[in-house]
Amino acid sequence: MIYTLFESPIVNDNFAANLNADIGRLNIRSFPDGETYLQLLDDVQDRAILIVDSLNLPNDKMIPLIYLCETARSLGAKSIGFVCPYLCYMRQDKIFNPGEGLTSQYFACLLSHYVDWLVTIDPHLHRYKSMSELYSIPAEATHAAPVVANWIKDNISEPFLIGPDSESEQWVSSMANIIGCDYKSLTKKRYGDKQVEITLPIDLKLDQKTPVFVDDIISSGVTMITAIKQLKSMTVSKPYCIGIHAVFNEQTLTLLKEAGAKSVITCNTIPHQTNQIDVTSVLMPVIEQKIN
Ligand code: R5P
Repeated sequence: MIYTLFESPIVNDNFAANLNADIGRLNIRSFPDGETYLQLLDDVQDRAILIVDSLNLPNDKMIPLIYLCETARSLGAKSIGFVCPYLCYMRQDKIFNPGEGLTSQYFACLLSHYVDWLVTIDPHLHRYKSMSELYSIPAEATHAAPVVANWIKDNISEPFLIGPDSESEQWVSSMANIIGCDYKSLTKKRYGDKQVEITLPIDLKLDQKTPVFVDDIISSGVTMITAIKQLKSMTVSKPYCIGIHAVFNEQTLTLLKEAGAKSVITCNTIPHQTNQIDVTSVLMPVIEQKIN
């Protein structure tokens, strides 16, 4: 039985049919004081439950998610798997300043308490090398690289992939491998939530190729915007900006375009007007493996 609390774009009749599953119906609303009311409208006794939702805006989403898990278990659900295309709280993977906490670990501990297994797409694995370093439940990361690479192949001629920072090298290198094109990653120093410095490598030569920035997350947009501005000295071609997870708002989209982005494209891990790349085909085999 599949549930989505926040209307995941990948949950539809086809998705359910492929998994030989039903889409569960929920009655969910806020009481006048803002507290959450949740009711399951189908029998879940002995059913395997699959929840599909991204955890952008996690602070608002966690209470409904916890209530869904607890309610399903109280009604006799056999197991609860969580497909979370965008997994939050992965970037605080180190104590950067005295007095901080390791929120990536606290969040992993919280989520592991409610679900039996987890599947996600391109979580921000930087200082952690694998999900098992963080999660005590079976937790698997699949990758959007094949579908992003195919989209680039189909839509951009002579692409040159650029990762705006060292972490993004993992994404651009595997996509460039699939496409058979050149790539480079830049160097980024972050000074604050909205302040970064980006340096181009001295051997960066785009020739006549089309620049394509690729990053896992676009949030405030400052990383992409700074990278676009830096690249202006190198080429007159406007760059495409591709983010796997669209954690940004309308205002950021305007700023990206004003900075010189030719087009901003994202995967449908988070519903967004820039979604053009469907990740269902990379998720499906991993989910099938988990439920069979
Ligand atoms: C961080 O290292 C990530 O890979 C992204 O580069 C970062 O989250 C983007 O955030 P923003 O859009 O706020 O610069």
